Amino acid sequence: MDSIEYWTQDMSVSWDELCPPLKALEARVSLIVSNYALHWIDDKSQLVAVMHRLLTEQGGLIVARFQIMPHLNAFLTDTQMTEYNTRGKTFSTEQHMNIWRTICEGLGLEAKLLVIRDAKWFPFIR
Ligand SMILES: C[S@@+](CC[C@H](N)C(=O)[O-])C[C@H]1O[C@@H](n2cnc3c(N)ncnc32)[C@H](O)[C@@H]1O
Repeated sequence: MDSIEYWTQDMSVSWDELCPPLKALEARVSLIVSNYALHWIDDKSQLVAVMHRLLTEQGGLIVARFQIMPHLNAFLTDTQMTEYNTRGKTFSTEQHMNIWRTICEGLGLEAKLLVIRDAKWFPFIR
């Protein structure tokens, strides 16, 4: 479509590192849609802050579907957590949702709807 422009952008970067055309959209974006991508970005606070800065103050909206990684530590022993270096790095579904909610609310973004679909994870144990 002629009216659509596409850019490729690593969304794990800070605001200053964004490509110029994206930065030019500061406070002008009404809708950000993401499908199964946000969970790849470790620094979620920075990510949400960047998206927040893009949104218009007249009611911008972020609609995102993302994966919740399994809470592996719930299945590991203390020794295994140390061996695999996973201590404090995996979270329950509720903890995940609280992380997102806290980040959003900290920026003044209202978390309108947090829906968990199929929160079942199956540990594969050898
Ligand atoms: C499961 S795919 C989803 C792709 C697409 N949204 C869809 O629905 O088919 C995850 C996507 O996240 C993108 N991704 C991962 N890390 C990213 C990052 N730091 N910045 C931007 N995109 C990233 C990957 O390039 C990949 O295309």
